[in-house]
Amino acid sequence: MVYDIDMLRTFYASYAKRVKAAQQASGKPLTLAEKILYTHLYHPEIQPRFRRGEDYATFRPDRVAMQDATAQMALLQFMNAGKETTAVPATVHCDHLIQAYKGVQTDLPAACQVNREVYDFLQSVSAKYGIGFWKPGAGIIHQVVLENYAFPGGMMVGTDSHTPNAGGLGMIAIGVGGADAVDVMTGMEWELKMPRLIGVHLKGSLNGWAAPKDVILKLAGILTVKGATNAIIEYFGEGTASISATGKATICNMGAEVGATTSIFPYDEQMNAYLCATGREEIARLASACADCLQADPEVLAQPEKYYDRIIEIDLSALEPYINGPFTPDAACPISDFAEKVKANGYPRRMEVGLIGSCTNSSYQDLSRAASLARQVKEKALKMASPLIINPGSEQIYCTARRDGMISAFEAVGGTIMTNACGPCIGQWKRVTDDPNRANSIVTSFNRNFAKRADGNPNTHAFVASPELAMALTIAGDLCFNPLTDTLTNEKGEQVKLDAPAGETLPRNGFTVDDNGYIAPPADGKSIEVSIHPDSERLQKLEPFAPWDGNDLIDMPLLIKTKGKCTTDHISMAGPWLRFRGHLENISNNLLMGAVNAFNGKTNWVLNTLTGEYEAVSAVAKSYKAKGIPSIVVAEENYGEGSSREHAAMEPRFLNVRVVLAKSFARIHETNLKKQGMLALTFIHKDDYDKVQENDRISVFGLREFTPGKPLQIKLRHADGSEDTFEAAHTYNEMQIKWFKAGAALNL
Ligand code: F3S
Repeated sequence: MVYDIDMLRTFYASYAKRVKAAQQASGKPLTLAEKILYTHLYHPEIQPRFRRGEDYATFRPDRVAMQDATAQMALLQFMNAGKETTAVPATVHCDHLIQAYKGVQTDLPAACQVNREVYDFLQSVSAKYGIGFWKPGAGIIHQVVLENYAFPGGMMVGTDSHTPNAGGLGMIAIGVGGADAVDVMTGMEWELKMPRLIGVHLKGSLNGWAAPKDVILKLAGILTVKGATNAIIEYFGEGTASISATGKATICNMGAEVGATTSIFPYDEQMNAYLCATGREEIARLASACADCLQADPEVLAQPEKYYDRIIEIDLSALEPYINGPFTPDAACPISDFAEKVKANGYPRRMEVGLIGSCTNSSYQDLSRAASLARQVKEKALKMASPLIINPGSEQIYCTARRDGMISAFEAVGGTIMTNACGPCIGQWKRVTDDPNRANSIVTSFNRNFAKRADGNPNTHAFVASPELAMALTIAGDLCFNPLTDTLTNEKGEQVKLDAPAGETLPRNGFTVDDNGYIAPPADGKSIEVSIHPDSERLQKLEPFAPWDGNDLIDMPLLIKTKGKCTTDHISMAGPWLRFRGHLENISNNLLMGAVNAFNGKTNWVLNTLTGEYEAVSAVAKSYKAKGIPSIVVAEENYGEGSSREHAAMEPRFLNVRVVLAKSFARIHETNLKKQGMLALTFIHKDDYDKVQENDRISVFGLREFTPGKPLQIKLRHADGSEDTFEAAHTYNEMQIKWFKAGAALNL
């Protein structure tokens, strides 16, 4: 067994009692999210009445999951904490570093070879500290967590932004940076601003081509990429029961795309069935015994507008398939309007590759519905117009899909089966294309579609859709094809229509797996040596960042003023840079290389005010650092949107950037900046962004009186001798101000 059943028995033995105590302390009926949050307070004996979106609270999550790209930095930090084992169960999942090229048979051995040093490091650290290790090829972190570890009413953190996937099993699961994971693994209080609550009322039931993915694709259009920042999305209503547990997980997974802290569904029969199908009958029984504590109180459901900060209604019965993109996951479009959108915007109409799978959409239901369309290719004498790529979420789903004929259905239409890993979802795709400079379109069943994310090519227009819609468009090879209404010409010259996808929610004959890829830690790993070679280019021991010197920051040069979207992909690119995730100095060479310089519209080309020359962002930052000069980054809205990678905060800190002044921040990234001892400040008047000039010297005053809620002063000294001054806001609390002063949270 890969999880500790005794821990879960203990958890459920007291869960109902703890919920009751929380209800009494708060003096009102509770939503599901509140029940789980309040029963995981670090100090349950003190139950203050939290103001959502304002007060910080500290928690004691039940477990931690880390993927290989972020685990390196998290574990390097944990090693400095002086603990013998982790305080709560934790797991490492080797999924991000595997390149997708020719298929699993060649790609997996190649990845094991290329990444051996990192895998050996992760495995030995895991063994030493009692951490479960899922070896390369075992699966993608969130699918493996859903199959093995997620449990209703639980709370976990994961060093990956799609950790909320576990909300499909009624768990509060939050994506965090490595430093937050270290807090939890060391048994320290883990802090979070009490989230706002967005209630999504699902009515009716899905039918035909509509899939769970379409719920979140539609919602992304309503909320936009930052509409749920600092909020939990809680689903309720009769429609929830019609969605499988894995479908719920897909919806929760992509809540990250609207900035949600996490998303959650109430416990129901679908979750019960999934727990039983994945061999966790006892957990299903324990959860069923306290089912009323695993959903919102009846008073909340009777008057939801009174208890949630915002209510959104979606009628599943009327839901159309959606396709979102390109370049941002909130560019939502129902399929019936999509052909017009493609033509109006001049998007490349030819659909060049279809990709199905990832942590978002590789459940049994997803694959069986997509396979039902693949089978129609032969049945209807069609020909696949575009190549198909599948990356299954886990070895268990792969083995089950192979046994049940889905893998052969994909292979029969020329599909390439990649490793059970992230692959093309995170730029680990060695795509073969005739001309990388040609604008081109792909459709994926993944969750993100930022520029360059899949294949590193800025000319690729990536659209996200359900697996079934991605499959239909791959068969057609035409972005303007609507499978609900349009026909295709088959090899006999006939017009044929695809039948709506059909599939099973769970395998009738149960799941099967030969080797799930799990390596349990030894009972006592104290004597295990973890070695990091000093000449390694992939791993480097961490040196603490210097504490604040007690002075205001005076006359900093502007490193870059970014224009438009600046995600963590723009700040610390993935793809080929993933190999340096355990080596802060080397990965810092990619600092902000994807961000657009507001003064010249170019990427990775900024003014070095010391020389007057233009250079790469990291080169300029290094030259300032070499002279002991701190610098500042200025940015627009939702800076740091996207993944939880703390490298996006550690790299600028390492290169002596002290401040990011933005119009707004994405939640995880703002916390990451604070944890690394940076100043994350926001423009109170967004127009002040326009006052920042390329040659400015920028000062931050008021740091000696740095206090929660009190703005800091910014002075811009322009090259012509004129000045602008204005105030900047911050969200630092007392503890976070201590992090800043200490140089980093870990220094405390
Ligand atoms: Fe991996 Fe993509 Fe999910 S990178 S964890 S498959 S979002």
